[in-house]
Amino acid sequence: MNSMEMFKFRIRRYKPGAIDPPRFETFEVAVGQDRSASILDCLEQIRLNQDPTLMYRHSCHHGSCGTCACQINGTPRLACTTKLSQLSADPLIIEPLEGFDCIADLVVNMDDFFKDIDCKWSYLQTDQSADAPPPPGGITTWSRLEDCIECGCCVSACPAVQVNSAFMGPAALTAVHRQYRKFRQQRERLLAIAGGHRGVKGCHRALVCSKVCPTRVYPARHIDELRRQLKTPSST
Ligand code: SF4
Ligand code: SF4
Ligand code: FES
Repeated sequence: MNSMEMFKFRIRRYKPGAIDPPRFETFEVAVGQDRSASILDCLEQIRLNQDPTLMYRHSCHHGSCGTCACQINGTPRLACTTKLSQLSADPLIIEPLEGFDCIADLVVNMDDFFKDIDCKWSYLQTDQSADAPPPPGGITTWSRLEDCIECGCCVSACPAVQVNSAFMGPAALTAVHRQYRKFRQQRERLLAIAGGHRGVKGCHRALVCSKVCPTRVYPARHIDELRRQLKTPSST
């Protein structure tokens, strides 16, 4: 039988005009000893059983929507895919994503994050999974969504973004590169964006963006590829 143990959470609380200035509050949650519960499971327990005013974002619960990113023991991670068994600290420190303006509790303002990602850019790529069945008649190829779930973890971790607000950051540059690879006719314009004052020259190659990305997008590789293309644009 999976008996229960108590886990302590220190959560940074903020509500403009109510919990203001921000402060940490401690909650205890009973979890199974296998520690398979996620941080999001625990936040939901707290909200349901202890404090219905606790605010955080979530949607999919399985690492697809990117909305639940927060700072877990000082590292940006997805609350839904981070399990207690992966963490050793007690209490766990849960804070809003660093580098973003906090709206309330763990909810941050993502407006700046999306500023440089054109919503008309493609979010699809050709699915190359070996076990995909052949597409039905009339369809030539399967498509799937790109790997970036726009969670903001890379931007939060990037030291260059923290010191240079003009730098568009790893997620936007990754989006620029994706679009560059797919649409030849847009390449000149996209390279101008990547080579502009807000582009790749802001990146110090610290590589933390690739380290924290929960979906293995490896933004630093995209930035490097853009650098290469700026030197020698490919003809293919
Ligand atoms: S590689 Fe560049 S974009 Fe990525 S974290 Fe480092 S400075 Fe930021
Ligand atoms: S590149 Fe990775 S860390 Fe950055 S926004 Fe996309 S999914 Fe999140
Ligand atoms: S709830 Fe969707 S990624 Fe965590």
